[in-house]
Amino acid sequence: MSFQNPVFIPGPTNIPEALRKACDMPTIDHRSPLFGQILHPARRGVRQVLKSDTAKVFIFPSTGTGGWETALTNCLSAGDKVLAARNGMFSHRWIDMCQRHGLDVQIVETPWGDGLPADRYEEILTADTSHQIKVVLATHNETATGVKSDIAAVRKALDAAGHPALLFVDGVSSIGSMDFRFDDWSVDVAVAGSQKGFMLPAGLAIVGFSAKAMEATKTAALPRTFFDVHDMAKGYDNNAYPYTPAVGLLNGLNEACTMLLAEGLENVFARHTRIATGVRAAVDAWGLNLCAASPDVYSDTVSAICTPDGFNATDIVTHAAETYGVAFGVGLGEVAGKVFRIGHLGSLTDVMTLSGIATAEMCMVDLGLDIKLGSGVAAAQEFYRLNPAARLQNAA
Ligand SMILES: Cc1ncc(COP(=O)(O)O)c(C=O)c1O
Repeated sequence: MSFQNPVFIPGPTNIPEALRKACDMPTIDHRSPLFGQILHPARRGVRQVLKSDTAKVFIFPSTGTGGWETALTNCLSAGDKVLAARNGMFSHRWIDMCQRHGLDVQIVETPWGDGLPADRYEEILTADTSHQIKVVLATHNETATGVKSDIAAVRKALDAAGHPALLFVDGVSSIGSMDFRFDDWSVDVAVAGSQKGFMLPAGLAIVGFSAKAMEATKTAALPRTFFDVHDMAKGYDNNAYPYTPAVGLLNGLNEACTMLLAEGLENVFARHTRIATGVRAAVDAWGLNLCAASPDVYSDTVSAICTPDGFNATDIVTHAAETYGVAFGVGLGEVAGKVFRIGHLGSLTDVMTLSGIATAEMCMVDLGLDIKLGSGVAAAQEFYRLNPAARLQNAA
């Protein structure tokens, strides 16, 4: 496998040189004001990326999965009722985590390829007149299927039902790449990881808590130690952690937020939409379909591409790695073998994306699929040529 090729997995993403350098730093005293000069700006930067004025940001040495656990264990008690839809592997895993913690999950089974059913949420929440449901889970971007969901609609469902449940949003593969509005959507806990929109190596669970979620922590009885937000907050007050922080990654996170905010969040989102639209033009030219059921749920960070019946989509991923030294994502869970995924998030340009499209095309032809070499590349080229990145930047 060549280290020169970009990766096209949906996270970890390609790491900009400036961020690699920022992570590579000498040891400092992690219980000192010098550490505070990294920690506090990083937390402020994350809050801005979340589009929040008020969220309390906590950053754990962990991954997105640890962020899920932080949300659950700090706000809930065993036996509490949670409402969640299962529409892909990541929503499934969050549900599984709830169940392992002894929570009572009401699951709305949803076709893999569809977005979250906000109308179903509203019906269930309206029927829950005694407010047994304590939390609603929402996976903003299902990385397994390349499906984004309408979080504003989920918030509306809660409001229309007049229901006080907390809203937890998994933004692991959306935050920092797709529009995310913590305050506007009244999100109570947002979960992210360092290795996607923040373009860093894996290693940080990044969460934002609302005032209402912080209030819930006072009565929540699920056991927690490593992920206790109050222990963490006490540490922060002294420029420290309750344990040893990942200082280099935090320095990288601070720099990543600076980069995202300097580009401008709306420009970052528009860049992801442009790049994704080029990939989708290629998929269309290949005569293939996305797993995502309709354009309103197309993800701008990952495309899960269905291959014809009887063809094992995972062969494309294996072949790409072995023959061309390029990484794509395999299908997961219900769609394993049925889709392969092109990740197009984080640090990516048109030219890099075209190389991924060209590689996918070579693999499919090598493996006998009826695809015309150059067809997807030409479709994406045409889109990028007519919608150049520079025009977007100049318009900003
Ligand atoms: C939407 C989503 N949620 C949660 C996770 C789990 O995050 P991690 O692998 O960082 O633990 C992932 C990982 O890809 C994801 O895509």
